[in-house]
Amino acid sequence: MLVAKNAKHAKRETIIKRETIMKKIRVQQGSVAMKKIRIGIVGAGGMTAYHIPGFRKAGAVVSAIADTNPAAASACAKKWGVGRVYPSLSAMLAGEELDAVSVITPNRFHAPLAIEALKAGKHVFCEKPPAMNARETLAMAKAAEKAGRRLLFNFCNRARPECEALKKEIDSGRFGKVNSVDAMWMRRTGIPGFGGWFTTKSLSGGGPLIDLLHSVDLALWFMGYPEPAHVLARTFGDFIRDRRFRGPWGIPVREDGTCDVEAAARAFVTFKDGSCLAVHNSWAEMIKREEMSVVLQGTKEGAAIRRVFGRDGDDSTAVDTCELYTMTARGARKDRPLTARRDEAMGRIRSAVNFVRTLQGREDPLSDPQEAVKLMKIVDAIYASSRTGRPVAL
Ligand SMILES: NC(=O)c1ccc[n+]([C@@H]2O[C@H](COP(=O)([O-])OP(=O)(O)OC[C@H]3O[C@@H](n4cnc5c(N)ncnc54)[C@H](O)[C@@H]3O)[C@@H](O)[C@H]2O)c1
Repeated sequence: MLVAKNAKHAKRETIIKRETIMKKIRVQQGSVAMKKIRIGIVGAGGMTAYHIPGFRKAGAVVSAIADTNPAAASACAKKWGVGRVYPSLSAMLAGEELDAVSVITPNRFHAPLAIEALKAGKHVFCEKPPAMNARETLAMAKAAEKAGRRLLFNFCNRARPECEALKKEIDSGRFGKVNSVDAMWMRRTGIPGFGGWFTTKSLSGGGPLIDLLHSVDLALWFMGYPEPAHVLARTFGDFIRDRRFRGPWGIPVREDGTCDVEAAARAFVTFKDGSCLAVHNSWAEMIKREEMSVVLQGTKEGAAIRRVFGRDGDDSTAVDTCELYTMTARGARKDRPLTARRDEAMGRIRSAVNFVRTLQGREDPLSDPQEAVKLMKIVDAIYASSRTGRPVAL
């Protein structure tokens, strides 16, 4: 009885603490909204092609770029007309007046860089996966709470027009309770280089499970992020050193590099509310072609979002569909396409817009640090179950 009372008290305290932090953030947003938001980028890689246009579209200024590789920083600054470059985040924080930092580095550096920026009082937009594991993600969430700053992760697939539209349909209650979901992002020839950071576990945290994590996040988002109960999983390393399965992005092969991540992952996750999720992610499998899909069953209706690629790794060849499935009272099948604007960028620009609009107080954030912690607990459990061969209780 006393335990229950204490737990209730602790929960209320947590809610009050969160509300106070959110109030503090809203007050700061009031002043931020009055001026242009200044963003510094750390990591001048491929994703800058989406972050920079997205931030600018929402009216923010990209003030500077920091990268440990000076040539990468300069080339990116030149391409996008950004005024100043720095050799590190610390140097950029010392040299610039910034409101926010966008972290676009290899996964290993997400947590230390985001925490450094948050401690310096900056809001943070951080690429996915949130970090290497749940422990690091929790440290980031705590740093954001302590600093009273926003921390958004780039789960850009939530920002795809059809996904935002489907989420609205789910929240309207038309599906009833979403009780089972299949989340899949599989590729035939999609290994992002050999021996670079993507295939080195100490830099990436894992292979396609963690890299193509969008499908799992999207499924959990549609389900309302229920509390996980058990995870049973297997990962497979077949083809991870096989050059025939290289993706098309021109990521170099480092002969002396490491390839110690999985090439495919399968998992089954059960939740305390009785629902379940099947996961299938891969970079290299003998399948027809690349496909990303989330198929969900509710107690009233079903639905599926699907992106089928003409050529693996080439967004311009992809076809997106979203359909809702039901039966009429007379027993006829009724499939309704949920039409939404086509977005070749897979929400990557829209999610950067959402970050700025969140800081301006104009939109709700598209991601939440506590959900990211839950997601990474599931990822940790998938790897642990695969390692031990046993189910993992969460
Ligand atoms: N949301 C998406 O759809 C999507 C797509 C691709 C990549 N990503 C994510 O974006 C991140 C970056 O991927 P990428 O493909 O742009 O990588 P990349 O290898 O092209 O670029 C990373 C850059 O970070 C720099 N860097 C490394 N450590 C640094 C540090 N400590 N401080 C400053 N700079 C540092 C490197 O020099 C490099 O220029 C990854 O986390 C990846 O998972 C997300």
